[in-house]
Amino acid sequence: MRNLINIMDLSAKEIDGLIETACDIMKFPEKYERACEHKILATLFYEPSTRTRLSFESAMLSLGGQVLGFSEANSSSAAKGESVSDTAAIVSGYCDIIAMRHPKEGAPLVAAQTASVPIINAGDGGHYHPTQTLTDLLTVKREKGTFDNLTIGVCGDLKFGRTVHSLIGAMSRYEGVRFVLISPEELKLPRFVKQQFIKDKGIPYEQSTQLEEVMDRLDVLYMTRVQRERFFNEEDYLRLRDSYILTPDKLKSAKEDMIIMHPLPRVNEISVEVDKDPRAAYFRQAHNGKYIRMALILKLLEEAKA
Ligand code: NCD
Repeated sequence: MRNLINIMDLSAKEIDGLIETACDIMKFPEKYERACEHKILATLFYEPSTRTRLSFESAMLSLGGQVLGFSEANSSSAAKGESVSDTAAIVSGYCDIIAMRHPKEGAPLVAAQTASVPIINAGDGGHYHPTQTLTDLLTVKREKGTFDNLTIGVCGDLKFGRTVHSLIGAMSRYEGVRFVLISPEELKLPRFVKQQFIKDKGIPYEQSTQLEEVMDRLDVLYMTRVQRERFFNEEDYLRLRDSYILTPDKLKSAKEDMIIMHPLPRVNEISVEVDKDPRAAYFRQAHNGKYIRMALILKLLEEAKA
């Protein structure tokens, strides 16, 4: 069974194919409106979500399919102590494909061992978030026209930010990429990401605690929220949450064609005045999420049939 647990489960060529399909869906939505008739997507969300769950559901509905699921662990049998593997085995009998978000790293992989339908990781703890990365890649492609020779700045909570971990993995496969890692000391990129995707591949990178110092060389600035729910104590969160606040003033030294991305939700890290800047791509990015998820559902269901 083909699942999507880690973005590296997809080759760069397959990602190109998904992007092509997503762009075709955007242009000719009517061609796809019955593509998933009689198919059911289950969204099993053990953690809060707006964009990811709703864009998955909207994606399936626009493909002519149907959706069911739960949006909080407390309303499922998890509250009674059911394991993720039992839930996955049972729900497989009610649907054709499952998107799962869970606070524990590895939960979707565990689910995939007992599920008899494809499992999509919709975010597992502080680990990975591959469908956000597909959304991000579609955005980079549409905004910049290429993945090659880009300097990507990732800023904020690089430790717990699962979107950053998957994005760095995916981008590490393209020619001439460079990373600029901007975070407070305490929220630095974890070793499991830095070693395999940057150091082992010999990709040039720099680290900074100051966003202004590196702004002028970025082609993409990827801002992130400090992940409050992963902190062990509130004091640390309060001390670190406002480490970076992007304002029009700080953007003065940025390239004219730099794009500003954010997986959202934003808290304080991008001031609302930045929204008017044509370089602010984050709302367009959220919109892209629906179409790339449509392409992904089509691909996984097609492969499950084979
Ligand atoms: C992200 C997540 O859940 O990791 N949100 C999303 O899916 N767009 C980022 C975040 O919550 O900060």
